[in-house]
Amino acid sequence: MNFEYLNTRLNDFEQKDLFRRLVCIDSVSDTRIRVAGAEKIIFCSNNYLNLAEDKRIIKAAKTAMDKYGFGSGASRLISGTNQPHVELEKKLALLLQKEAALVFPSGFMANLAVLQTITEKGDLILLDKLDHASIIDAAKASQAQFRTYHRTQFDKIEKFLASNDYNRKFIVTESVFSMDGDFADLKRLVELKNKYGAYLIVDEAHAFGCFGETGAGLAEEMGILKEIDIVVATLSKSAGCMGGFAAADRGVIDYLINKARPFIYTTAPLPANSAAAVCAIEIIRNEKARRQKLKENGEYLRGKLRSLGFNTGTSSSQIVPVIIGDNKKTMELAKYLFDKGFFVVAIRPPTVAPGTSRLRISLQSGHTKEQIDSLCECLKGFSIRGA
Ligand SMILES: Cc1ncc(COP(=O)(O)O)c(C=O)c1O
Repeated sequence: MNFEYLNTRLNDFEQKDLFRRLVCIDSVSDTRIRVAGAEKIIFCSNNYLNLAEDKRIIKAAKTAMDKYGFGSGASRLISGTNQPHVELEKKLALLLQKEAALVFPSGFMANLAVLQTITEKGDLILLDKLDHASIIDAAKASQAQFRTYHRTQFDKIEKFLASNDYNRKFIVTESVFSMDGDFADLKRLVELKNKYGAYLIVDEAHAFGCFGETGAGLAEEMGILKEIDIVVATLSKSAGCMGGFAAADRGVIDYLINKARPFIYTTAPLPANSAAAVCAIEIIRNEKARRQKLKENGEYLRGKLRSLGFNTGTSSSQIVPVIIGDNKKTMELAKYLFDKGFFVVAIRPPTVAPGTSRLRISLQSGHTKEQIDSLCECLKGFSIRGA
């Protein structure tokens, strides 16, 4: 059998400027990378605190590799639980101010495990329309019903929470939204969940390490970390490693260990990765200056882009979109920047809503003002060129 029908679909992607291609990076040095034989400044990595290349983290991984080998050899409940996993989970629980934590091979799997396992038939999952694909897919894979709201539709949320049609109700939101870089109103959601006896699950993927006094995330920064029932996040962004985790009451974590299929039926994370993540957590707790610099970079870039007339939407974080709208024009802009020495990807539907294609600029604490200035100069050149 041939796959002609897939070629038809792919042609359709091409026609609509929605075809996606992989870009291979040859080497990385802080905010500079080499691609296709040329050096570029990278503005599309989630390595927000530049920890992926931190020598201390690399050393921790190498030391663990010497002790435990490379692969973990089995799932966690068989023989894949090594000391670095246990230490990492203790550190995460402490940082997130919860009784316990559990690590997964990815943040995607952490969301899948939590929503699929702790909700039951007759329950309701309330999702922000712009929640990450891993949250949406997790809700779809659960036995519960799910409904969506826009993050400012508190009346709608309240209507669902007040309804008698469901058993338990779970509100699931990102704290910093991945494509707009704006914040969920966590305080309001906490008020509502308390008023109606619902549960609140917060995915801090883009806030973990970047916000809060000790880097625990936006809920810590807002002083409501203890009110969040389950915190999910990833170690693959600001922590510069791989893997996801959930932090919650001991009972929730024990239940996940006993019942979560994405935890039970997969090989444990690499011990070296967990050892690296232990080191990353220490750096995140102790080196607050990285968070401060990241925040300053976000404010600086937004200020410059807005003064140049670019639409940066509702961004308040290190994720700064430049909303263009048209797919083709967005692709042209990304290509123009690439040719000038900047690596920024164009984000198109279905990742964002039709008509809102954009450049998604992600900043790192290692970006300098000069690098940000040069990116803005270049963007200015494009808008003049395009006029
Ligand atoms: C909000 C959010 N949650 C979860 C994930 C998945 O994390 P991971 O890359 O570790 O699978 C991502 C991004 O990758 C994300 O942006």
